[in-house]
Amino acid sequence: MAKMGTSSRVAAAIVVVLGFVLSLAVVCNGGKTSSFVRKVEKTVDMPLDSDVFKVPPGYNAPQQVHITQGDQLGKAVIVSWVTVEEPGSNTVLYWSAYSKKQKSEGKFTTYKFYNYTSGYIHHTTIRNLKFNTKYYYVVGIGHTERQFWFITPPKVGPDVPYTFGLIGDLGQSFDSNKTLTHYELNPQKGQAVLFVGDLSYADNYPNHDNVRWDTWGRFTERSVAYQPWIWTAGNHEIDFAPELGETKPFKPYTHRYHVPYKASGSTAPFWYSIKRASAYIIVLSSYSAYGKYTPQYFWLEQELRKVNRSETPWLIVLMHAPWYNSYNFHYLEGETMRVMYEPWFVKYKVDVVFAGHVHAYERSERMSNVAYNIVNGICIPVKDQSAPVYITIGDGGNTEVLATK
Ligand SMILES: *[C@@H]1O[C@H](CO)[C@@H](O)[C@H](O)[C@H]1NC(C)=O
Ligand SMILES: *[C@@H]1O[C@H](CO)[C@@H](O)[C@H](O)[C@H]1NC(C)=O
Ligand SMILES: *[C@@H]1O[C@H](CO)[C@@H](O)[C@H](O)[C@H]1NC(C)=O
Ligand SMILES: [Fe+2]
Repeated sequence: MAKMGTSSRVAAAIVVVLGFVLSLAVVCNGGKTSSFVRKVEKTVDMPLDSDVFKVPPGYNAPQQVHITQGDQLGKAVIVSWVTVEEPGSNTVLYWSAYSKKQKSEGKFTTYKFYNYTSGYIHHTTIRNLKFNTKYYYVVGIGHTERQFWFITPPKVGPDVPYTFGLIGDLGQSFDSNKTLTHYELNPQKGQAVLFVGDLSYADNYPNHDNVRWDTWGRFTERSVAYQPWIWTAGNHEIDFAPELGETKPFKPYTHRYHVPYKASGSTAPFWYSIKRASAYIIVLSSYSAYGKYTPQYFWLEQELRKVNRSETPWLIVLMHAPWYNSYNFHYLEGETMRVMYEPWFVKYKVDVVFAGHVHAYERSERMSNVAYNIVNGICIPVKDQSAPVYITIGDGGNTEVLATK
């Protein structure tokens, strides 16, 4: 695999901020990748009494506040939070400098996982927002109110600069905290995060201790309450544990993290798309069926046709398991999905595929491997200007060791 021209750098930047500056006159300025290199030694999770896990004070105070895009164009935001003592209000109060205070109502849900019972998980979508506008919002109405803010993206269009942060496989170790801090301190100032899967790693604990989903929610709030993180499901979201009587995959993840999948005609929250500024972002699921005739297959087939490159010149795909990976770690796990979908990615000229899973940073040249037909022997990747660049960014700081071989 190393021969294909993959440039690899072990444990390099975990957060790459891309400056998408695109217009006919301006050359794309990709900014600078951090030179930070994580130490190879295994890290440990932050203890439960760490500062980053602190429960906000006050009766029934909202915690684990997080936002994500709530529609296809960026005029809606899904606001989510957890209350512990009682359900409390589902209302989000929000306003901008140019608008009156408005309210939006949502719902709450709860779930059980083995002997864990969740708090009251609220999801409220606020809609019809103005583009490129700073909004303040308040949750916890009637009990302990907490105020946050976000900035809506500019109207979708070809000449709209935007900066995405990239994080994958974050976890909740001391190194995870370093990753998030690097992202926050990056002078490029990411406006939204493309998160390529593996959030809390709660499933590494006995009984998948879902308390570690709550701590992760509190740890990440300092970023995700203020800018949307675009979610991708990873293997650590599956939480399939028949030995605990838990046989419905993705139960904690789907209860806690909502995505606007219906807006793109998807029938499940694991694959969907959004447009944001000059980018069309397709999120795929490495852990849902993707073979021919499956729902994800039918959806993607239609989806790629919808992309209008005059409107959104950037076509980005997020998935968890990389298709191209030169490490022995998770070797070939993405291969069957690659065989299914790579011809489409070449046909529709996907710009870049971001994946996680392999705990390293790795970036390919534009190359494809779509000529093989079982008998012709043409099974070596070749340089292909219609093919995407593949970037693996799976080293967010979780406690599993780095891929080095
Ligand atoms: C769940 O069960 C485990 C042992 O199987 C125990 O250590 C833990 O305290 C229990 N948690 C709750 C919330 O009951
Ligand atoms: C996490 O990082 C923040 C700063 O970015 C720091 O204030 C905090 O003390 C750190 N917490 C731990 C447990 O490392
Ligand atoms: C594609 O987008 C451009 C620019 O927004 C628009 O003028 C054109 O009508 C769109 N094409 C289609 C087929 O929707
Ligand atoms: Fe993973």
